[in-house]
Amino acid sequence: MKKETRVNHPPDVPLPPDNHPLTFPIYQNVKWEYETVDETLRGIRGEREGYFYSRVSNPTVRQLEMLLAELQQRDECVVCASGVNAIAQTLIALTRSDDHIIFFIESYSPTREIIKSLLGRFGVRSTMLSIEDLSRLECVLKDTPTRLLIFESPTNPVTKIADIPAITALAKKYGALTVLDNTFAGFHQHGQFDIDVFIHSLTKYAAGTGDVMGGAVMGNKSVMQTISAQFRMLGAAIDPHAAFLLMRGLKTYFVRYRAQCISAQAVAEMLAAHPACENVRYPGLSSSRFYTLAKAQMSEFGTVVTFDIKGGAEAGRRFAESLNLFAKAASLGSTESLVFAPQLIKSTGFSTEQLLWSDISAGIVRLSIGLEDVQDLFEDLSQALKHC
Ligand SMILES: Cc1ncc(COP(=O)(O)O)c(C=O)c1O
Repeated sequence: MKKETRVNHPPDVPLPPDNHPLTFPIYQNVKWEYETVDETLRGIRGEREGYFYSRVSNPTVRQLEMLLAELQQRDECVVCASGVNAIAQTLIALTRSDDHIIFFIESYSPTREIIKSLLGRFGVRSTMLSIEDLSRLECVLKDTPTRLLIFESPTNPVTKIADIPAITALAKKYGALTVLDNTFAGFHQHGQFDIDVFIHSLTKYAAGTGDVMGGAVMGNKSVMQTISAQFRMLGAAIDPHAAFLLMRGLKTYFVRYRAQCISAQAVAEMLAAHPACENVRYPGLSSSRFYTLAKAQMSEFGTVVTFDIKGGAEAGRRFAESLNLFAKAASLGSTESLVFAPQLIKSTGFSTEQLLWSDISAGIVRLSIGLEDVQDLFEDLSQALKHC
């Protein structure tokens, strides 16, 4: 064999069957070969075990899917390139022209955009309500046959807690599917509720370090059959190396999430007692109107603390720009703390009534609490609040 050929057909490194690596290998690979054409055909048709093409399935990605399904207490999971991709593909998979869906004012703004701009173009009708207005939710469900409702808890950015048992009961009563974007709550919460489909941005708590993107959808077998088939067709598979990094991130997920929640609680309490701040919305605060509901539904309340700077938008800008330890950046759930100034929190396209429900005020600031020493965070917050 010439060297030019050998570099494309390198030596095999067989492992003894009783000798295993502790970390599952990264199958950084697109194509798999079977011995014969007939076995290849059986593989493609799903009549035998094995892999054919990584857009459809890959062992490294599969390990991540199996772990996430277990964490969220569901039969199946598919992962994809980002959280937004998981939202878009799930909604595309579950709806068809003329279906009606319900979504909420208090949700991640790209979710609202996907529903209005993308699904709207394909004839999917939608109604936007407040997650707190359950009587209007029941009226709409009663009047309009509804395919699904999609919601969050805690919501982004104002951390409202959805009454999950009440919402799922209403959805079941009127035959609608429930889709919960569970990103803020993490993979170990809300699995006990009768939710049909969970969505996560893996970019947040699975990655942990804010350097890799991914999305996931979990549910029981029948709904996941529809969703998985559509995901494969649309081809937004995650890269195996990203899947490996997310598996690595998940090893420290529980320690990180819990430590960051403890710091978030402490920061929320500190801000609630500070004269320059008001309306601290953290659901773990006993003063929060969602506290009782949060306690009943959750074991930890998340790592995002949203509050108002009394001085309004410009004071919020000064506060964000005066912080030294909080990066002025999007996202959440990383080990470093982040701040989002009022100017960056979107409330566009809301009517006056919807704006009120949204709870997005002029001086709103969102903090994502990381793994820094909490005393250092207190000092940084205190010095920055002097500029407001
Ligand atoms: C609640 C929620 N869902 C989905 C996403 C989107 O995730 P990604 O950035 O991985 O696309 C985000 C991102 O901030 C989010 O906060």
